[in-house]
Amino acid sequence: MAKFRNSEESYGILAQVLHWCVAMLIFVQLPLGVYAANLPVSLARLQWLSYHKSIGITILVLALARLAWRWIDAPPALPDTMALWERRAAHAVHWALYVVPVLAMLAGWLYASAAGLSVNWFGILLIPDLVAKNAELAPLFKALHHGLVGVLVLLLIGHVGAAARHAFLVRDNIVQRMLPAAWWGKK
Ligand code: HEM
Ligand code: HEM
Repeated sequence: MAKFRNSEESYGILAQVLHWCVAMLIFVQLPLGVYAANLPVSLARLQWLSYHKSIGITILVLALARLAWRWIDAPPALPDTMALWERRAAHAVHWALYVVPVLAMLAGWLYASAAGLSVNWFGILLIPDLVAKNAELAPLFKALHHGLVGVLVLLLIGHVGAAARHAFLVRDNIVQRMLPAAWWGKK
């Protein structure tokens, strides 16, 4: 059984659950955003954008919970078998994968507020606007949201590519550290 907290060899259950929930939601959020933003002005567009904003706020909360948990529970160190440049690159990309999504989501929230598209979380909870409606600022926040999402996509290509390299080429246990031990035969 994987442990609840991180160990020296592996991420713990909570870090793994948070990682894969955020990952899954981001992979839903990307095509959802493109689909909704490209619909003609209609009730359907507002409805799909509303799902996008609600899922976005959910990811924001989970991402902040992840950061808080990382502060409490330090992740396992990368093994010495990895070259120094590899460990540095992994650390830099991991940090960017904490910071960039949070900034992208704040920009989306700022845009929604400035455009008068307040977030009603799944129709249950009205989320306060970050700024008052502002037609001049709205396009700026929209461009910021798009730009930061673009950076996030580039980071994800690097991150998933590195995971695939470790799984199929290097064949070390880096990817297994983020998977439940039962899946790879370690109890
Ligand atoms: C990691 C989370 C998020 C990702 C990956 C993401 C991604 C995207 C993408 C790919 C688009 C479409 C861009 C286009 O094709 O024009 C988009 C549009 C949009 N997003 Fe997000 N988004 C996220 C979070 C949020 C949040 C938290 C909000 C607001 C609370 C938000 C509000 C919007 C709005 C209002 C649009 C429509 C902009 C337009 O009219 O082009 N997004 N997002
Ligand atoms: C198919 C998609 C993904 C795969 C295969 C994957 C794989 C992994 C693996 C194997 C690790 C652990 C590396 C190690 O052992 O040190 C990891 C860590 C990490 N992943 Fe992903 N990941 C994916 C998607 C994502 C997404 C969408 C995000 C966006 C936020 C993300 C953010 C992170 C972060 C921040 C860490 C570092 C955790 C820490 O040390 O605090 N990953 N990922």
